Amino acid sequence: MSDDSPAGTELRFPKDFLFGVATSSYQVEGGIENDWSEWERQGKLHDANTRCGRACDHWERFYDDIPRIVATGSRAYRMRIEWARVEPERCRWDDAAWEGYRSRVQALSQAGIRPIITLHHFTHPTWFHEATPWHEKSSLVAWRRYVTRCAEMLCGIDVGIVTINEPMVFWLAGYITGFFPPGLKDARRGFWALAHLAEAHVIARDAFSSRTPRADCGIAQNVLAFAPARRWHPIDRALTRLANSNYNHAFLEALTTGRLRIQMPGLVSGSATIDGAERAMDYVGVNYYTRAHLKFQRRSPFLAFEYIDRHQRDLTDIGWEYYPEGLGQMLRQMKQYGRPIWITENGLDDRLGVRRSQFLFEHWQQVLSAISAGINVTTYLHWSLFDNFEWLEGFGPRFGLYHVDFDTTARTPTAALAYFRQVAESGVLQKP
Ligand code: FCB
Repeated sequence: MSDDSPAGTELRFPKDFLFGVATSSYQVEGGIENDWSEWERQGKLHDANTRCGRACDHWERFYDDIPRIVATGSRAYRMRIEWARVEPERCRWDDAAWEGYRSRVQALSQAGIRPIITLHHFTHPTWFHEATPWHEKSSLVAWRRYVTRCAEMLCGIDVGIVTINEPMVFWLAGYITGFFPPGLKDARRGFWALAHLAEAHVIARDAFSSRTPRADCGIAQNVLAFAPARRWHPIDRALTRLANSNYNHAFLEALTTGRLRIQMPGLVSGSATIDGAERAMDYVGVNYYTRAHLKFQRRSPFLAFEYIDRHQRDLTDIGWEYYPEGLGQMLRQMKQYGRPIWITENGLDDRLGVRRSQFLFEHWQQVLSAISAGINVTTYLHWSLFDNFEWLEGFGPRFGLYHVDFDTTARTPTAALAYFRQVAESGVLQKP
């Protein structure tokens, strides 16, 4: 699609297209004790002194933040229930926390915002990895208890459900590189953790379908537009195909066919049947940020991963390639699952607040072009409502439609907010 629409034609989103904004509990709420806060104390972030602490103080300021969500023109808000808040000790519920979530979710609905609730987004109660780690079956007993209670709490409210956020990121960081808790470097256990996460999706979907039948359940899959670093190099090309099928598709295929297959020679290979997982997604959720170039090298690790500024557009502030075309490519790949597609995250680390409107425009062009090619994209959730705590990087990156002063937690609209609102409310895509 070119930058300009032909004279007289408008670039318009379908009438019921849903615009929204996304956050996740630990990154914004503040005051949470979980495996990640322990990780911080162990000095595991890029800066060993960083603490998430009160983050954006969103738990306390939630009700004041609702008008801020409304002011973005959004009709949906993706947020997470923090498992550690509602089950701080194993098998002991914090009833006030459950009630706190229920009333917050209800307040969103009353404000005309559809709550889209994430159940798992990287963090766990502090007891989890010790007592019921994901690589063991017992994880599913703990999970079933938690998601059943989530489904009871949300009963009667019109919500969408993201069961698991970015299972492949959690798997790679938690079980292969060791950057996230539980910090294991154990590919074999990692494979079972991944298989249990797929089963966890099915368990959650069952828990919701019997109590809240209207809740659509899917996962948020991190997708990367992979490309060979050297187009002429057969091994770079083979690695690109391998990464695409394993990283982008294996988990989604598991929830479509009921079989999880990981085939990464030299790292991990495995195959498992996931009971009940055939056709287990009501929508395909994609989190898209960037493209990664892959390169074979003769020393270990044999696969090098890099962000290259191929088109001289400048990398984003976090160092990722600025590559809107990749969103279009990934949407076209996702068509094969035959489900509506939700963009569950897409956003930009823009520390000076100067690039986000153009970023939105160029990514939305990709969405409209996919829709006009017959791909059923129904939802766009922007990451993020606020600047927030970014996992390993702490408070440096700025992904928010609202700028947050982390000393005072004051929220200030960025220049992109008005643009986001204009498009979200009118459904018409104009240049910023
Ligand atoms: C995604 C995560 C989200 C946030 C963005 C920048 O991978 O799901 O929590 O950190 O990246």
